[in-house]
Amino acid sequence: MSKVKEQCACKKETEEEKLTRIAEVIDEYKMKEGSLIQILHMAQGIYGYLPLELQCFIADKTGIPLSQVSGVVTFYSFFSTKPKGENTIRVCLGTACYVRGGKKIIERLKELLEIDVGDTTSDGKFTLEVMRCIGACGLAPAITINDKVYKQVNPDKLQAILKEYY
Ligand code: FES
Repeated sequence: MSKVKEQCACKKETEEEKLTRIAEVIDEYKMKEGSLIQILHMAQGIYGYLPLELQCFIADKTGIPLSQVSGVVTFYSFFSTKPKGENTIRVCLGTACYVRGGKKIIERLKELLEIDVGDTTSDGKFTLEVMRCIGACGLAPAITINDKVYKQVNPDKLQAILKEYY
C-alpha cells in the first residue's frame, strides 16, 4: 500500500486568500442579528487568531466600530489575539489540582518550554494556558494537551509527556 501522505493545503494559504475567505464569511453573516461573535469565531478558525489588523478589517467590512469588535475579542477567553502553537497545553488550576501541585506543574512547564502562561514557544510547537476544573479532581493534578487528558501528573513526568509531541 502506498504511504504517500496527503498534505493539507491550509498551511499554504496566503494571507490574501485567508482575508478573501474572511470577507466572504462577513458578507454572508453581517446582516444577521448578533453576527459579530459568529464572524469572529469563523475568522479565528480561518486565520488562527485575531490580531488588531484583522479586527480592523472586520470592523471596516461590517461597519461595526473597532472598539466594539475589540471589546468582544478581549471579553471572551476563547478569542486569542496571539498566534497559538501547534499544541495547546492547559494546566488545571481548580481547587483539587491547585492543592495537589498544579502550580508546580506550571512552574516546571514554564521552565521546560521557556515561556510564560499565555505564550507560545518560539518553534510554534506549544502554547501554555491554565484552565478551571475538568472533572478529573479524583486524579489531580491534571493537564490537557489538545484533547488528551493527563491525570496524576507530577513535574518529573512532564518532559516525557512533551516528547510525545515531537
Ligand atoms: S480541580 Fe483539576 S480536575 Fe478538578
